[in-house]
Amino acid sequence: MLEENAIVLMRNFIQRHKKEVDLALDLTLGRGKDSNFILETYPGSRVLAFDIQEEALDWVKENLKNQDRLQVVLDGHQNLDSYLDQEVDLAMMNLGYLPGGDKTIITKAATTVMAIEKALEALKVGGLFTLLVYRSHPGAGEEVAAVEDLVRVLDQRDYRVQRIEFYNQKNQPPVFFGIEKRMKK
Ligand SMILES: C[S@@+](CC[C@H](N)C(=O)[O-])C[C@H]1O[C@@H](n2cnc3c(N)ncnc32)[C@H](O)[C@@H]1O
Repeated sequence: MLEENAIVLMRNFIQRHKKEVDLALDLTLGRGKDSNFILETYPGSRVLAFDIQEEALDWVKENLKNQDRLQVVLDGHQNLDSYLDQEVDLAMMNLGYLPGGDKTIITKAATTVMAIEKALEALKVGGLFTLLVYRSHPGAGEEVAAVEDLVRVLDQRDYRVQRIEFYNQKNQPPVFFGIEKRMKK
């Protein structure tokens, strides 16, 4: 059966391609559902997660289990290299606004592109990058275009890029990109 939505699709993609995760990046922590999925699915994993809103960090600190394996950072994902001194198995990014929060605080094209480039650089060979691009909120258009322009031209010798979307759903459902970093030939 096909997946019912893009989040299930993303989770299945990760589980299908990664049997173990040591360190993962959650570039958009929000309510921590993505971080929580990694921490629960991979018992040995650690997650380094970013958000610019204190509200998100506070909520996660109160509500998530496995805090001992989760490091949260109150800073933009575009600065991720300041917090990282090793390669990662997985990076996740889920664009848009904080669910249940201020809908005017959204991820933005320029910083999103910067973060994607740095996260791809930080991936191990064989590492995965998952990207959920929401398209329906005000301000999304420029970001969607910037992301598409970036991932479309990633060298196929270095990365495999898959794009999946629910083509017949109403209201512009999110687009999923799954990217694998390849062995240099
Ligand atoms: C769609 S939500 C993420 C959902 C989240 N992954 C979850 O499981 O609940 C997007 C988040 O990105 C955050 N954000 C916006 N700009 C950011 C930036 N430059 N760096 C890090 N996080 C940012 C927002 O504050 C918001 O919480």
